[in-house]
Amino acid sequence: MNNVKAIKWENDSLVLLDCTKLPIKEEYIICKNYTDLIDAINCLAVRGAPAIGIAAAYGVVLAAQEAQGKAGSKADHLGYINEAIQELAATRPTAVNLFWALDRIKEVLGKVSGASEEVIRDRLLKEAETMYAEDIACNMKIGENGNEVVPQGASILTHCNAGALATAAYGTALGVVRAAHDAGKDIHVFADETRPLLQGARLTAWEMTQEGIPCTLITDSMAGYVMKLGRVDLVITGADRITLNGDTANKIGTYSLAVLAKEHGIPFYIAAPLSTIDITLKSGEEIEIEERDKREVKCLFGVQTAPEAVNAFNPAFDVTPNEYITGIITEKGILRPPYEVSIGNLFR
Ligand code: MRU
Repeated sequence: MNNVKAIKWENDSLVLLDCTKLPIKEEYIICKNYTDLIDAINCLAVRGAPAIGIAAAYGVVLAAQEAQGKAGSKADHLGYINEAIQELAATRPTAVNLFWALDRIKEVLGKVSGASEEVIRDRLLKEAETMYAEDIACNMKIGENGNEVVPQGASILTHCNAGALATAAYGTALGVVRAAHDAGKDIHVFADETRPLLQGARLTAWEMTQEGIPCTLITDSMAGYVMKLGRVDLVITGADRITLNGDTANKIGTYSLAVLAKEHGIPFYIAAPLSTIDITLKSGEEIEIEERDKREVKCLFGVQTAPEAVNAFNPAFDVTPNEYITGIITEKGILRPPYEVSIGNLFR
């Protein structure tokens, strides 16, 4: 197990390793109120689908603490917590794990709503801690399952960061990388830089360096050439939302990689927990894609890199159609096409 911990609960506060500062500085943000967490999610200090979900669950605990002893009536107390849930849900639309975690917390809240304020807070904290522990167990299992498709000496291309920094620990796509590395497979990782916010360069490259896993950084536009050179054996990325037919939303640029992988006959895998599968949506066309500030495209680290007057488009995610996906690596095994059947069977 690696030591990277992006999310910690300490002294009644949520402590987040600030992903916007890495790899230059290892700084922590201490969230004492749920609104501190909303700011952290919006600026991507905490990011990655499972990490956002778990952090949001702790965010509801913060709201319950804030309301303790302050609300006039029972209804006011529950109203404050429910308002926090709604505001947290309004932060980022694409990763389903956020809504999955908040729904789970809401269910617990519903069950204990008649209890004292202390009991409510403690029960919500227990649920958040359970989700945290379950996420680590899921990721270890994803790693174990995914290791089966990683050949000895493989070179794995990944996009964005689906590692310990995007989860409670260990990671999904990088969980598979970690498991293969721990199995002594002598693997190597190509990390896509991942413009506009450079999660690959800043976070994946940092995690791999910390772990001593051989890693080569490339810009996003180099992926096709590197594949053409025969230097990529498989692609593994994470996911933000997977629909019933296997269509997968993930960081912008994932779709291009999947198309390139197919053209070059390279297997393309998604690694994600079942909590990332949204069986209420039939296909990727129904997924809401977050659009972020245009300045993220026109600037790099606050330095303008394009004419002020130019227009920019900044979708944070894209959808990879199921026909490009060789398999979806989950904690319950590797799902194969047709995904309507394999996903359907799993959730039936
Ligand atoms: O915008 P981000 O950094 O939150 O995007 C993250 C990704 O796209 C990850 O690949 C995905 O959430 C999976 S994390 C295990």
